[in-house]
Amino acid sequence: MNPKETATERDARVTRLYEQLVEIEQRLIPTGLHVFGRASELQEKADLLRMVASFDRSEHGARALPRLIAEALGVDSYDALLHETSASETREMIDGIVAEAVRQFCEDGVETAGDWLNSKAGVDREESRPTFLLLAKVAEQLDSNNEIDSLVRALRGEYIRPGPGSDIVQNPFVLPTGRNTHAVNPYSVPSQMAFARAERTADALLRRYFDEHGRYPRALALVLWGLDNIKTHGEGVAQALWLLGVRPVRDALNRATEIEVIPLEQLRRPRIDVVITVSGIFRDLFTPTMALLDKAVRRVATLDEPLDMNYVRRNVLEKINANDAKGEQAGRLRTQERNVSAKVDAGGFEFDDAVTRVFSNAPGNYGTNVNFMVMQSAWENDATLGDLFVTRKCFAYTRDSKGRSVEGREARGLMDDALSLVEATYQNIDSFEVGITDVDHYFEYLGGISKAVETRAKSRPSIYLSDSLSPQTKIRSLEETVRLETRAKTLNPKWYEGMLKHGFRGVAEIENHVANTFGWSATANAVDPWIYTEISQTFLLDTMMLNRLRELNPHSLKSLVRRLLEAHDRGFWNPDEEILERLRDIIEGGA
Ligand code: BEZ
Ligand code: MG
Repeated sequence: MNPKETATERDARVTRLYEQLVEIEQRLIPTGLHVFGRASELQEKADLLRMVASFDRSEHGARALPRLIAEALGVDSYDALLHETSASETREMIDGIVAEAVRQFCEDGVETAGDWLNSKAGVDREESRPTFLLLAKVAEQLDSNNEIDSLVRALRGEYIRPGPGSDIVQNPFVLPTGRNTHAVNPYSVPSQMAFARAERTADALLRRYFDEHGRYPRALALVLWGLDNIKTHGEGVAQALWLLGVRPVRDALNRATEIEVIPLEQLRRPRIDVVITVSGIFRDLFTPTMALLDKAVRRVATLDEPLDMNYVRRNVLEKINANDAKGEQAGRLRTQERNVSAKVDAGGFEFDDAVTRVFSNAPGNYGTNVNFMVMQSAWENDATLGDLFVTRKCFAYTRDSKGRSVEGREARGLMDDALSLVEATYQNIDSFEVGITDVDHYFEYLGGISKAVETRAKSRPSIYLSDSLSPQTKIRSLEETVRLETRAKTLNPKWYEGMLKHGFRGVAEIENHVANTFGWSATANAVDPWIYTEISQTFLLDTMMLNRLRELNPHSLKSLVRRLLEAHDRGFWNPDEEILERLRDIIEGGA
């Protein structure tokens, strides 16, 4: 504590701390693994229903419970409460009423929950009824589980009814499980809803960067995944379009194949250059969408706009100019600009090269392999991780200025150049079930590209993730997200005890989380040392816990300890010698 701190500063600090605690507390986490063929347990069901009830569902005439309660209590807007630290008590009270109403619903059904909510908060029964009826439908689907039946039928070669692929909270009608998933029509992406949501996210992302740097980033690198864009009907795609300042337009067949430029007066900020790396799954599912993104970048590059308001054009001109001026003195940009602009407007191979922004794996290839290199501890110099990312992902998907399609042509130099301009990297997170330390794919992609940028731009980018899980989109830095995930999951007894109920597999999950956390040190240096210390204290220095892990899965226990020792060897963590001794003892003691 700072002795010079005033009472107001102290209050502000305590409020911030309180906000963080609420954020961790409210985070929905899996409290165990899904067991194939088994329906969800009561607590899990109540948590999911509470989240389902936090969104308006106009298609079912159902309003979000927190909003209904806020209105009935005469609070202006529940959403505004989320941004006002002074209103945290009111918000907490409303969240408490929601939780209790859902609990009553789970125990006694629609009528009782509606009555209770009416007596507690004055919410009109008729207003809450559609929401509880919706919860009743979802609850019924959660109680049934056809997975084993469906598997057996699939093995017999029988037909399995398909259902939408989405996140359960975003679209509860992905239930019941045990169906085939169908994707989306790529020509329908992005949906209007996705485009509307993406405006808020893109704005929040740029505001955050602006607040931290006093200006906009000249280029952003985005990661787009296939399944995520299925779930959200293209929110990630829509975010890229917003950054560029264009909107999708449907053609005569109602396909999103065209774009329309949003005028600068309306956009009221510069158009941001984007480097888009898509997964192999995205490439396979969203070919027309890649063409749409490529078209958008090309169109923006050709707009006759001031260069300080159109970073795509500025970057493209600079690149052509730099090529032209090779070997000549710098500083010719202004005099050459007319020439260069003419080249842009006329198209041609120089323009095609300078405007290439959509990259993926070579045709038929998937993934970055950065995760494998990290997990196998197979790298010496961390630049190798970024180089591997580019090696795997430097295949351009575009259409040249003569309209010929280029599908997966190796373009390492172009990707290197594009990444060298990037100042921030970003990925949209849209699932309640899978976060950045649950799987190794987030660090292989977002971490991998961030490391590639760091060596090419000669400066570490700012790394952001959005949290479009909650009704209010939130942008966090990678470091903040790692802290939040660690507190909400890895170090949270609710999470690890939930995992340990699964015995052997649970220990493997804990070890996986630690390894994935380590992946963020390796690729992005984004893990605070206290995280490794607290992991050691929670799982290894507590003798009872150590014995439980040893009993359940000595193999994963050893891997976990080795990973922590590697974090120390690689300079990510520098604990007391006493802690290191204890860790070495666990390995040598033949756990
Ligand atoms: C995808 O949906 O594109 C994806 C899924 C898992 C890992 C990486 C990408
Ligand atoms: Mg693994």
